[in-house]
Amino acid sequence: MNKNIPVITIDGPSGCGKGTIAQLLAKKLGWHFLDSGAIYRAVGWAVLNAKLDPAHHAALNMLIDQIKIETHASSVGDDAKIIVNDHDITDEIRSEACGQMASITSAIPFVRAALLDRQRAMRELPGLVTDGRDMGTVVFPDATLKFYFLANVEERAKRRFNQLKQKGKHVTLPDILRELQVRDERDSNRLIAPLKPADDVVLIDTTHLNIEGVLQSVIKEVQNHASLFGVSKLL
Ligand code: C5P
Repeated sequence: MNKNIPVITIDGPSGCGKGTIAQLLAKKLGWHFLDSGAIYRAVGWAVLNAKLDPAHHAALNMLIDQIKIETHASSVGDDAKIIVNDHDITDEIRSEACGQMASITSAIPFVRAALLDRQRAMRELPGLVTDGRDMGTVVFPDATLKFYFLANVEERAKRRFNQLKQKGKHVTLPDILRELQVRDERDSNRLIAPLKPADDVVLIDTTHLNIEGVLQSVIKEVQNHASLFGVSKLL
């Protein structure tokens, strides 16, 4: 088992900056990085691509059984490459349609169960930084250090809008805001692995911080908690 391998988790709602920071922190530490949302988005993409009704659980179960998801590490700032059944869907999974379908299918227990081992297998030496909704509560409850990011929904919508615009997507701010609210609501209220902070998290409100500011706060916390990793200085 890989229980002795250090893990830092960052959970929180969409657009709070956790993906960017997790990736930057992994790079600084020289550790692996897992974007768990990308795996759920890959499932969302496959469901949309197959024109499947996610309420049709027998068909969805078959799709989950047969889906081949490959993730390839990327340089910081770029999304990790995601290949599903030999299609490169790295850009496509960032659409709000894939985000919504990821949110719908990820509330189904057998979907989450099927993806659990795949995520845990990413815990490899020298360590793992991961971001998602349930990294600290369900997937890695024994993580060495857990963060939970918050930010108000208007600010998160603005960030997501700018990200998607930069990628050349045609989106409007009110649509993004509405979609984020729907997704927050569904992710927070589902019965299995809901979005919520673990008991032992370091909370960071990123509403009024830029990326550098959040990164500095996270680095400070990692340094303050170096003894948890069995060293006197980690960064
Ligand atoms: O983080 P991201 O916005 O890419 O995630 C897309 C969706 O995948 C989320 O809205 C959530 O429903 C689901 N997800 C999840 N558990 C995770 C990561 C993402 O349920 N650990």
